[in-house]
Amino acid sequence: MTLKDCRGMPVSYNSHSAIVGMEKAHICAMDFSGDPIGMINKVLEDHPDFVMGHCFKAAWLTQTLETRIYDKLVSTLKSAEALWSKANEREQGHINAIRAWVDGDFFGAVLHWEKVLTRYPFDLLALQLIHLTDVLLGDVVGQRDCVARVFALWDEDVPGYEFVLGFYSFGLEENADYMQAEEMGRMSLAIRSDNPYAVHAVSHVMEMQGRQAGGINFMKDREASWSKSHFANHLWWHLSLFHLDVGQVDRVFDIYDNSLRTAQQTADKYEELDAAALLWRLKLLGVDVGDRWVSLADKWEPSAADTLYAFNDVHAMMSFVSDGRSDAAKTLLSANERHIHHATDANTAMSREIGLPFCLALQDFENEEYSTCVDRLLAVRYRTHRLGGSHAQRDIIGWTLLEAALRAKRFNVALALANERCALKKTSVQNWQYVARAHKGLGDINKAKKAEARAQSLMAG
Ligand SMILES: [Fe+2]
Repeated sequence: MTLKDCRGMPVSYNSHSAIVGMEKAHICAMDFSGDPIGMINKVLEDHPDFVMGHCFKAAWLTQTLETRIYDKLVSTLKSAEALWSKANEREQGHINAIRAWVDGDFFGAVLHWEKVLTRYPFDLLALQLIHLTDVLLGDVVGQRDCVARVFALWDEDVPGYEFVLGFYSFGLEENADYMQAEEMGRMSLAIRSDNPYAVHAVSHVMEMQGRQAGGINFMKDREASWSKSHFANHLWWHLSLFHLDVGQVDRVFDIYDNSLRTAQQTADKYEELDAAALLWRLKLLGVDVGDRWVSLADKWEPSAADTLYAFNDVHAMMSFVSDGRSDAAKTLLSANERHIHHATDANTAMSREIGLPFCLALQDFENEEYSTCVDRLLAVRYRTHRLGGSHAQRDIIGWTLLEAALRAKRFNVALALANERCALKKTSVQNWQYVARAHKGLGDINKAKKAEARAQSLMAG
């Protein structure tokens, strides 16, 4: 007998309670609460032949992108593969996707999940995995269109619709359709006010549109719910970006020290990533961050030779160069060089095209070889989406380039870049101060004063 899940998707395993147990774990994976892996482990203890349960666990583990999780991922995949003959077509599609992922073919994994989703448009796990993997891979259009392909079939009567709205909101935002993105995000929050992914998508809209005061209010109004979620660190990071943009450095330190920083090594690399991304931005502004790099570099150092995900490596590199850990930086660079010469997986291309050049540019910056840093980043700046992450996260590359251009005294380049940033976001104190510094460097004091006045008036509120 074939059972169905709450969205009518066929499940080969003949236990209603096992399916319900998996669905509960999946909700936690979507709203960033509880312990989805612990929950599915409990289900699998009683139901070791539950293929879809193994598929769910392995699929969710793919998203960690960490070597310390890798063994668990592989053994879960093997458990699913051992049950291949009992699996239905949908479950076999998931197994194929996870196998491709473990073999390093992230793009192939997405293709397998897309095949599942096309045949089973209410397979929320497949949709989630495609969307999140597209974010990791920097497939900007895919993040939106994977949802668009099935969205018309969904409505509020299908359980989990609010999560689909959240995915769509973020995909639309990354493709600069801010109005529709905000609408989808707010619709999601109207159904589930504590959906951190929808809060996140709307905060991205506000970040890109330069709505700092609105962004701070939006985040603070909902802080009680998102700050308890597993997505809290990244959302604190977003809140700190709004404050940073209007020059409120004290607030940024307050968030870093009391909310964002994690005291111990966590099971989540994304937390360390946000911390590094924030400290590097403060460094670019010339702010003294004290000894905050030390504990962060301690956390990154064990994964210096991982080469599992280029996006992680660049944030590790920020910590190593900033804390003067030249040995760890050397380990990371040589591991990356070996990786791009010998490996053929999806991360190889990301590392070769963007990850390694950016890591070297970070080293140039730290060594005060600013002009080399500029040349390295100018060459890749319009391809940086290949590194993965969001526009807001990758903004650190353009920001590093601009600061390096100023310090290299290449003021024409700096003015062009600063004008570009201002055109995209006129409400940023930092952007106007960059314009002012570039004009000053070129000797145009009047224009420098005007730009500085814009910055001061924005800072005053
Ligand atoms: Fe984000």
